[in-house]
Amino acid sequence: MKPRLWTAAGIAAMITLTVTACGSGSGNNSGGNNTSSGGSSGSGGAKGTIALLLPDTTSSPRWETQDKPDFEKEVKKLDPNAKVLYENAQASSSTQQQQAESAMTNGAKVLVICPVDSKAAATIVNEAHQQGVKVISYDRMITNSPVDYYVSFDNEKVGELQGQYIADHTKKGGTIVMIDGAATDNNALQFKAGAHKVLDPLIKKGTFKLGYESMTPDWDPSNALREMEQAMTRLNNHVDGVLAANDSLAGAVIQALKAQGLAGKVPVTGQDATNAGLHDIMQGTQSMTVYKAVPKEASAAAQLAVDLLAGKKPASSLVSGSVNNGTRDVPAVLLQPVAVTKSNIQSTVIKDGYTTMDQIEHPSS
Ligand code: BGC
Repeated sequence: MKPRLWTAAGIAAMITLTVTACGSGSGNNSGGNNTSSGGSSGSGGAKGTIALLLPDTTSSPRWETQDKPDFEKEVKKLDPNAKVLYENAQASSSTQQQQAESAMTNGAKVLVICPVDSKAAATIVNEAHQQGVKVISYDRMITNSPVDYYVSFDNEKVGELQGQYIADHTKKGGTIVMIDGAATDNNALQFKAGAHKVLDPLIKKGTFKLGYESMTPDWDPSNALREMEQAMTRLNNHVDGVLAANDSLAGAVIQALKAQGLAGKVPVTGQDATNAGLHDIMQGTQSMTVYKAVPKEASAAAQLAVDLLAGKKPASSLVSGSVNNGTRDVPAVLLQPVAVTKSNIQSTVIKDGYTTMDQIEHPSS
């Protein structure tokens, strides 16, 4: 896994970027069949198809329960004439490529893709561009490709929030375990880099020891369970803090800790503010999660997709910066992640309507 240099462009600075209208020809406009959405964007509508391609159903509940419905709802609101084709790749990048190809065969003129594999998906971008189809990299960057837009969060910041929590709550001299995301996901590399940025100087100073670290293939919790069991065996259960990259991995970590009577005694991080994660936070077995307002992310992607479908240049007020993906500075919408603990569940996820106390108390319902 070669480290990449990312310029997570000054998000706070809100550099307004002049996005060049990347006209790939006339392509997808079905004759300017504009219906004014009346939305704040003032975006018109166009008949046509947008494909939403999401990565899996096992690494996080967010894809099926948040991203998909939120995106579909927003497209419908912005452009009642647009059709959304949805596919989930079930963690296979070759399936995702086939899904992209078949979406284009079925008339999709804009692809919104969260890549299973950030590198492999470059092929999809090249194929799409040959056919005059635009590609929005959704949540995860498609690296080394001329992808048109990127919508995500400040992913290095996510890792920093997790790392800072561990730094602040692990006993001095203690041993840290890091259960990172999938190496094929560029976000996972950024989460990891952000966490190391905070923790490495402290490890160097001897404040903590890094006892074990592993990336988790496919972000699959069953792999994380194996990793955590292995970590505990190697460390004779001397684990004082666990940085788990998301709530699904945290669930596996907690299961392994529970088997050794350690659940609730060791700080454990997470991400996604899932109902299961928030439930564990209320129970005291998980310590924090990182809340990313998916409705805002899905809505920005829908806005971009609808504009591109209509052959319009997206508003510069929406596209707030750029992120270099190894090939180009990709015009980007980057949102801010928020650390959530027991003490601010009410003022964050509940207040925003992201979830409810009832769903947190009964996470599988
Ligand atoms: C997303 C996380 C998610 C993880 C596993 C990452 O790329 O940003 O929100 O938990 O993938 O699906």
